Amino acid sequence: MISFARGAPAPECLDAELLADCARAATVGDRSVLAYGPGGGYAPLREWLGRRHGVEPDRVVVTNGGLQGFVFYAEELLAERPGRVLVEAPTYDRPLKILARLGADVVGVAMDGEGLDPDALERELGVGETSFVYTIPTFQNPSGRTLSAPRRARVVELARAHGVPVLEDDPYGLVRYEGEAPPSLHELEGGELVTYASSFSKTVAPGVRVGWFVAPAPLAARIEARAVSNYISPPFLTQATVFELIDRGAFQPNLERIVGLLRARRDSMLEALERELTGRASWSEPEGGYFLWVDVPTDAADLLARSEAAGVTFVKGADFYAGEGGGRAARLAFSYASSSEIGAGVSTLAALLRS
Ligand SMILES: Cc1ncc(COP(=O)(O)O)c(C=O)c1O
Repeated sequence: MISFARGAPAPECLDAELLADCARAATVGDRSVLAYGPGGGYAPLREWLGRRHGVEPDRVVVTNGGLQGFVFYAEELLAERPGRVLVEAPTYDRPLKILARLGADVVGVAMDGEGLDPDALERELGVGETSFVYTIPTFQNPSGRTLSAPRRARVVELARAHGVPVLEDDPYGLVRYEGEAPPSLHELEGGELVTYASSFSKTVAPGVRVGWFVAPAPLAARIEARAVSNYISPPFLTQATVFELIDRGAFQPNLERIVGLLRARRDSMLEALERELTGRASWSEPEGGYFLWVDVPTDAADLLARSEAAGVTFVKGADFYAGEGGGRAARLAFSYASSSEIGAGVSTLAALLRS
């Protein structure tokens, strides 16, 4: 099976030797990484992240991946400010499932090629109480779209005007193949309403399970308290391993290597789509991240069933909607398959669309 479904890095992105070496150095160098410790994370990593974001370390909570932090953030916000959760339509499917489990009233806000539509956001903010807005502004999962700089300014204005908290989820921002990075919502807003979340899953390895949240100090303290009551201590061993990798200057070169491997895959997928599907389908052209979004001229669930029978899998668009939508769309991940698999997989999809 050729997988365009897995939002995971290709195996060669993961530098096992480097990580093993960093893990050894981190453990031998500091035995406290094998002990219980502060729920907010490994102090040197928290300090480094604090410097990077221009905040005190107590505003950084290092979580077990970004998704665990999402659970804590959503639980806190829904308890503190009951109301609707506004998400992009489409959005990352796991938070949709988590929010459903928490009983949240989730409303999808329209987006287009430039990302979240601020006019649609403004309309929804006027409808009733909003607990928080969840957005993935850069190389979005699932669409690969990036919120333009003018729209970022509008989203921040709207958050301020309505006093609404925003969770900016940015695990893909550093996985950029070309172009200039726009400012984060967090930078534009100053970090009072916008909480920033990211992760080392895409820049180091998902298996380290190291994500982080930059929140206002009181919220950070509450997220940390939730971490303690859920798992006492985070895994310092992996957090210290990531810190060792950073401290020895290996983060940037490793990231550049990953970006090179993934850029080649993105290019292969765009070339294959152009070759096979011009005039039959349309797709986003992401400057980074893992995914692109294809609008197909047929029912995507039916296409998926036929495509899996032919040895290619993807995720159908409808899985990324809080409500209706995505029936004729597909998320294709180019991060996992090899370039030759990508070419063959797109040819298979194109043949099915032609038949
Ligand atoms: C938008 C987004 N947020 C969060 C995550 C979770 O990442 P992790 O928990 O591995 O940090 C992912 C993973 O694919 C993602 O796509």
